[in-house]
Amino acid sequence: MIIKPTLRNNIFLSAHPLGCEHYVNDLFEEAKQLPNFGGPKRVLIIGGSSGYGLSSRVTLAQNAQASTINVSYESRPKDQRTGTAGYWNNVAFIKQAQSLDSKHYDIIGNAFSHQTKAITIDKIKETFGQIDLLVYSLASGARPNPDTGEVIYSAIKPIGEDLVGKTVDIASKEIRDIHIKAATPEEVQGTVYVMGGEDWQLWVEALEKAGCLSKGFKTISYSYVGSGAMDQIYRSGTIGKAKDHLEDTALAMNSWLKDKYQGEAVISSSKAVTTKASVFIPGFVSYISCLFEVMKELGNHESILAHKHLLFKDMVYGDKRLVDAKNRIRVDHHEMEPRVQELTKRYLQQYQNESIFELSGTQLFLTEVHHNNGFGYADIDYDQDVDLEAILPKLDN
Ligand code: NAD
Ligand code: NA
Repeated sequence: MIIKPTLRNNIFLSAHPLGCEHYVNDLFEEAKQLPNFGGPKRVLIIGGSSGYGLSSRVTLAQNAQASTINVSYESRPKDQRTGTAGYWNNVAFIKQAQSLDSKHYDIIGNAFSHQTKAITIDKIKETFGQIDLLVYSLASGARPNPDTGEVIYSAIKPIGEDLVGKTVDIASKEIRDIHIKAATPEEVQGTVYVMGGEDWQLWVEALEKAGCLSKGFKTISYSYVGSGAMDQIYRSGTIGKAKDHLEDTALAMNSWLKDKYQGEAVISSSKAVTTKASVFIPGFVSYISCLFEVMKELGNHESILAHKHLLFKDMVYGDKRLVDAKNRIRVDHHEMEPRVQELTKRYLQQYQNESIFELSGTQLFLTEVHHNNGFGYADIDYDQDVDLEAILPKLDN
């Protein structure tokens, strides 16, 4: 198969296995340049096949010598489909991890189901026995009710007033107007159901019931606070309500985990980075392009891997934790600096048309979004036929 990027509405429908391997290898190379730290030894990651979950997995494995189990929902190649980027990232991770002393396993399944939880618990019992850390890094558009099977959808929409703005089309490099209707109450509820904390709590409860939590057990999930520029669609929108619920869940779990395990449940408010999920948020591409431009100019730009390394090394397992009044770990402090926010806003005003493509921040975003799907690497020949069957591993269980 000859694999080229195919996009629909800024979503990549194809992924290149060699490019995904390149992406994962680069994460490992970056981690190797960073200092090691003492951390958890047995980690379960929900959503570790891409984005923040994958970077968390790489830094924990490479820099803290942790063993990992990753639960993700990815598709293997089939007929004319290349398989998802996350699928190939998993393959590449396992390959890289062979040179580590730790053990790594992948489970492909819907994290929201009772069945996936049961399979994962069996896997923990047969391997690590218990876990020291659960990273809950899931981003999904839908969640089946685990008891009835009814599928509930999330919607990334503003609340109250419609959103009128601009969006960048990645494939055509055009600016399009967007008009997103304010969410209905059902859409707000649905988004909280999918992206709130309920499933995270179900995971922790199932693991605890099975005796899988070690003394000192920690769990972390990723939120976003963000700025004025993204506020209407993010924190004040449907997803903001879901994040409120996620953060409340952390506070509730934190108190009993502290009592029973001397452990904790925490939220980290993480910075805006290029992932499959973030690109899906209306207006995000313009925001991150301008943000990258500014943070590069000011010299405080961070990569996704460096961001998670800093989080675990200094703030989760180190003694340099920054927290706010809601006990959220603020590892987004550079993005939130007033100077960064002010300049980003100014650029967003200034670059409302195709001129945004002149920014090196936009170019960096475009490079990253291609890399996320295995495209745009100079040392890969994209005209070469790829024999997917030949590189297909026996990964699924
Ligand atoms: P992503 O799309 O890169 O990763 C999502 C992960 O969830 C993938 O591993 C995917 O396989 C997995 N997943 C999705 N549905 C699943 C299901 N039903 N069962 C099992 N696994 C499933 O997204 P991301 O941006 O890394 O997001 C992870 C978390 O980080 C989210 O909570 C997001 O809100 C948060 N966050 C992201 C940003 C950002 O800028 N990207 C900023 C702050 C916080
Ligand atoms: Na992730």
